[in-house]
This record gives sequence, C-alpha cells and structure tokens, in this order.
Amino acid sequence: MALQTNNQRDSFTSKAGVIAAAAGSAIGLGNIWRFPYVAGENGGGAFLLIYIGFIVLIGAPVMLSEFLIGRSTQSNPVGAFKRLAPRSYWHLTGFLGISAAFFILAFYTTVSGWTLEYLFLAFSDGFAGKDAATLNTNFELFRTSGLRPLLWQNIFMVFTAFIVFKGIKNGIEKYTKILMPLLLLIIIILSVRSVTLPGASEGLLFLFKPDFSKITGKVVLEALGQSFFSLSIGMGTLITYGSYIGKKENLGHTALSVSAADTAIAILAGVAIFPAVFAFGIAPESGAGLVFITLPLIFDQMAGGYFFALIFFVLLSIAALTSTISVLEVVVAYLSEELKLGRKKATILAASSVALLGVACTMSQGPWSVLGIGDRDLFDLLELVSANVMLPVGGLLIVLFVGWFMPKPLLFAELSNEGKLRARFKYTYLFIIRFIAPVAIAFVFLHGLGFFSLFGGGDL
Ligand code: TRP
Repeated sequence: MALQTNNQRDSFTSKAGVIAAAAGSAIGLGNIWRFPYVAGENGGGAFLLIYIGFIVLIGAPVMLSEFLIGRSTQSNPVGAFKRLAPRSYWHLTGFLGISAAFFILAFYTTVSGWTLEYLFLAFSDGFAGKDAATLNTNFELFRTSGLRPLLWQNIFMVFTAFIVFKGIKNGIEKYTKILMPLLLLIIIILSVRSVTLPGASEGLLFLFKPDFSKITGKVVLEALGQSFFSLSIGMGTLITYGSYIGKKENLGHTALSVSAADTAIAILAGVAIFPAVFAFGIAPESGAGLVFITLPLIFDQMAGGYFFALIFFVLLSIAALTSTISVLEVVVAYLSEELKLGRKKATILAASSVALLGVACTMSQGPWSVLGIGDRDLFDLLELVSANVMLPVGGLLIVLFVGWFMPKPLLFAELSNEGKLRARFKYTYLFIIRFIAPVAIAFVFLHGLGFFSLFGGGDL
C-alpha cells in the first residue's frame, strides 16, 4: 500500500546526501553551543545520562516517525497531515511546527550572528591577551549592543536563504555533503587538544560521572527539550526532509545513524569544552555565554590558539548554517506547496518574515529589553517555549498520530520499503511509539512544568 508518488518533486539523490542533510540539520548550535551550556547548568553527568536515555527511547523513534510521515506523503508538514488524515484537525500539528520554525529561527539566527562576530574576532586575533573578566564584558557589550549583532544576524539569514533558494539537490544536498565531514574532523582535533590540557580530568568527571542528587523535574524536562532540539524533531523539519528521501532508502537505519551521529557530536563537544572549562577554572553553569566567553580565553592560553579559535568558529558557523536551512525549508515547503507561491517567492517571504521576529529577538537583548516577562527577555522566552514546550507537544502529536491513526498497512509498507526490507524491529518500534514515548513525553512535560512532583518541583 502506498500513496501516489510525485515524480516532479525535487529530492535528495543519494544515501550519503540524505544522511549528510539530515545529520546537517540535527548537528548544529544545539550540539556545540546549547548542549554544553544546558548540561553545565543541569549538573553534567546525570543530565547526560538522562539525555542519552531520551535519545534512544523517544528521540530516534520520533525521528523515524517524522521520516515515515514525510516520505509516505511527499509533502510539507501541513500537507502531509492533510493527506493522511483529511477532514480532521491533525494538520494543525503542521501549523504548530511552522510557528515553532519562526520561534527557533529567530533566536537561532541571533546566536548564529554571535558566531560570525566571534569568527571575525578570531580572524583579527581579537582574543589575544584578554582575561576572563574582559572577555565577559566584551561579550555582554556586544550581545546587548543592538546594531552589530543585528547586522551579523541578517548576514547569516541571507546565507541561509541563498542555500534554501537553490533547492534540494543543488542547494541543501550539495553543501551539506562537503561541510559535514569537515565538521567532524575539526571537532575531533579540538577534543584531542582539550583532553590533553593539564587538569582536564576534572572536566571529564563532571561530564561523565553522574551525581544523582542533581536530578529534578526541571533537569529531566531540560534533557527532553534538549534531545528534541538537538535531533531537530517535533516540528516537522524531518517530515519535510523525509519527503525528499527516495523510496529505496532504509528509513530505520537513517534515523539510527543520524541520532547516533548527533549524540556523538554533542558528547564530543562536551569533551572539547568541559576539560578546558575546568582546566582554566571557569564555572560550568555560566549559561548561554559558555562557549563565547570561556573558549576564547582557553584558545588564548593554548599553543596554536589562534589557529584553533579560527577553525572552531568556522565549524560553529557551518554547523549553524546546515541547521538553519533545514528550519527555513519547512516554511518554504509549506508556502510553495500549500499556497503555490513558487520556490523563490516563498524563500524571500519566509526569510524576511522570520527576520522580523529575529530583529525583535536580538534587540530584546539590549535596546528593546522591555520585550520580555520578568527577568526573561524575548530571546530567553523563544528558546524556552520552543525547546521545552512546542517540540515536546509536537513530538507527542507525531508519535500518537503514527502509532494510533496512520493506517497500519501504509505504516509497515513505508517502514519496509513495500516489503523489500525485513524491518524486524517494527513491532518494537510500534510498541514504543504507541505506549512508551507518549507516556514518557506527557509525564516529563507535566512534571517539569510543576503539575505534580516526584523529585523536586518544576520552576523552569
Ligand atoms: N538540531 C539543530 C541543532 O542542534 C537545530 C534545529 C534544526 C532544530 N532544525 C530543527 C531544532 C528543528 C528543532 C527542530 O542545532
């Protein structure tokens, strides 16, 4: 059983291209900027353990579910639910994803802009001879200055739109296939450098030795949100990429390889960052500035630091770019397929409307600080609501849909490529997405928000 296919559609052309693009989406600032700072704030080892549990038990199955929805319908997230469940409200899940795309891109391009500034600083040897306090002040001055971060953010948005503009084969696939292997190489060099610093072992203990007294409802929800954010799941990015995957690819293997690669890079980023953080006496819970404040200090104090700083920020920019294109692609696929806009118009419209929210987000960090609630500015709110609320809710709807509502013959046909693969894991997978994943997501979500308390309250 299969839905009718559309041969006119742009698509990925090879297995390597599919994996590079999907891993390119998953691997990004989420791994290198967000994972270390969130792990640092939530206790290190215990957080990592729960995080890995969520990747295996919930993340990889949700990823496979998104691929299945996308490839079986060959549609954007809104169109996909409309095809599979006509005359129902399920397509609202697609709209939830599109709203999440706006939220995520707004703060993600802000941080991508910081990355470009730091690449520029690394290039002009701007960290040389600066101590921690100066680097901290400089980061804060820059982050809150309004115009300069805004400029970088919009430059980054233009790069993103340029690649999306070129489409799947000649844009997304072509660039990610070159950029992803390079990224892996650079991060391995950095990790090796970091673990050979004197005093590195304390950082490794922080990352790998769980302290179970640190676990609270908030920590568990943060781990869930981070696992969704890092795998790019819960908002239809992988439904969209799934729609460009050819009928011969093995979706189960793809989901497993991408999840494994993403987790490996997050752990490698931790291995690169925490030993250095401890070796130089920096607090692991320094927050969103961790990478931007502490690493330049470390680079400045290590042999070959100029070179390492440069490649690190090149790496971070590349990783960010292969992720932002995947988020923008969701909005562009929706506009061009559902509203029949034409790819070019759709890209321009999507990028410029996202940029408007992005401006508000960057400016909320400084000149427009009235945009916020309590001590959280718009940037913090967008990050919190998208990762810890929208993605888990989206992921919950996706597994419920595939587990309970998608016709089983279609589901199994798509999993096994019309019976050509054995897909021996199919009943385990079905059991997970029917029972384990939905219950776990709902539980962690409600518990983390403080609806009930098993081990310490919510207070996000
Ligand atoms: N996963 C990416 C990262 O870790 C960010 C990202 C891309 C994303 N697409 C997404 C996050 C979709 C959530 C949903 O940097």
